[in-house]
Amino acid sequence: MLNFARGRRESRSNRPLSLGGMDYPDPKRKNNFVGKIILAAALTALCIIMLKQSPSFNPTSTFSRRESGVTHVLVTGGAGYIGSHAALRLLKDSYRVTIVDNLSRGNLGAVKVLQQLFPEPGRLQFIYADLGDPKSVNKIFAENAFDAVMHFAAVAYVGESTLDPLKYYHNITSNTLVVVEAMAKHRVRTLIYSSTCATYGEPEKMPITEETTQVPINPYGKAKKMAEDIILDFSKNSNMAVMILRYFNVIGSDPEGRLGEAPRPELREHGRISGACFDAARGIIPGLKVRGTDYKTADGTCIRDYIDVTDLVDAHVKALEHARPGKVGIYNVGTGKGSSVKEFVEACKKATGVNIKVDFLPRRPGDYAEVYSDPSKILRELNWTAQHTNLQESLQVAWRWQKSHRDGYGTPMVVSS
Ligand SMILES: NC(=O)c1ccc[n+]([C@@H]2O[C@H](COP(=O)([O-])OP(=O)(O)OC[C@H]3O[C@@H](n4cnc5c(N)ncnc54)[C@H](O)[C@@H]3O)[C@@H](O)[C@H]2O)c1
Repeated sequence: MLNFARGRRESRSNRPLSLGGMDYPDPKRKNNFVGKIILAAALTALCIIMLKQSPSFNPTSTFSRRESGVTHVLVTGGAGYIGSHAALRLLKDSYRVTIVDNLSRGNLGAVKVLQQLFPEPGRLQFIYADLGDPKSVNKIFAENAFDAVMHFAAVAYVGESTLDPLKYYHNITSNTLVVVEAMAKHRVRTLIYSSTCATYGEPEKMPITEETTQVPINPYGKAKKMAEDIILDFSKNSNMAVMILRYFNVIGSDPEGRLGEAPRPELREHGRISGACFDAARGIIPGLKVRGTDYKTADGTCIRDYIDVTDLVDAHVKALEHARPGKVGIYNVGTGKGSSVKEFVEACKKATGVNIKVDFLPRRPGDYAEVYSDPSKILRELNWTAQHTNLQESLQVAWRWQKSHRDGYGTPMVVSS
């Protein structure tokens, strides 16, 4: 930070000396005057350099102009697991991408990988900002010409949401309102929203269709459902093109090994099953705990629908291509085929080549036996179907990245809020 206090004190003592109504120039003062001009010029030059290096503050930036044939997508949460994979796919498909992320959970390392892959001007910019700050969000929308928003940014752990519900309502529901308000104000007319199967809660009937009643049972699912409601209510009286994608359990990583999943170590205890599999294979945790072996399923363990991140981002691109003003599309993104926890553990052992220790424990309260999607609507309307999801292969690809990135993307940048 620049400190101007000393400069102000000096300027008072350097005022011209007044003797009998006449000003006598002090020779030292002349030097100071020249010095001040040099300092002012240096500061101005520094400010210009800083503004140039910060694309969000550059009014002549390519990102602030609409260009025919170029679709500029704002990817919120683009430093995170799914957002970074989506940004990679968009960039490969020649979209212009702006990532906004507060790095609370994501990794600057992922953004750097993308910047190295797409260094050309006007392809990718990263803006460090918190979506909980309406002023910053508004400024970002005022200074950039977005055509569409893919809103991934969120805190996203069911367990954590039960311990800290307000954080979830704020980060998910309230921040989505901020984003939608900014979109409305700045006439950005296409929104692809990251929702979740957790909005359905515990439906009695499987598979889950988009018509299944949403009765979420934890703050994470409730916060996402409220965010959906905000978007849907707004869309009724606007011309916005809305696509809401409700993902099932996301696994895998970039098949070319450029990106991976690197959650914060402190979130391990809330973590997802794939993270636990890799931690167990590396010996970071002693083994895997399978909770519940007496469910009414073929092998007694819970059944979930896993979807590879490559397929998931493909669904986003298809959703973007099919988005139409004034139209709302809501889609489940899953394979339609559930896999049991036992099957997952076997796939994990094969993918990692490690004979992971498994403990079978009693059920965990709140877990439901079976969750899997009916993905026929997305096939029918967007011509999307999972092409890359295979439990063992998806885990193998992710394991390759995990093995070659033992420290994830490296030490996360510490940013004070
Ligand atoms: N991973 C899954 O299995 C899964 C399943 C269903 C839905 N989703 C949804 O997908 C989206 C992405 O999830 P993910 O697994 O990539 O999570 P992630 O934690 O890897 O990524 C989320 C990103 O959002 C950023 N972020 C969070 N709060 C922010 C804020 N206030 N301002 C700016 N940036 C902020 C984080 O820093 C992080 O980079 C989330 O909306 C999540 O709810 C994920």
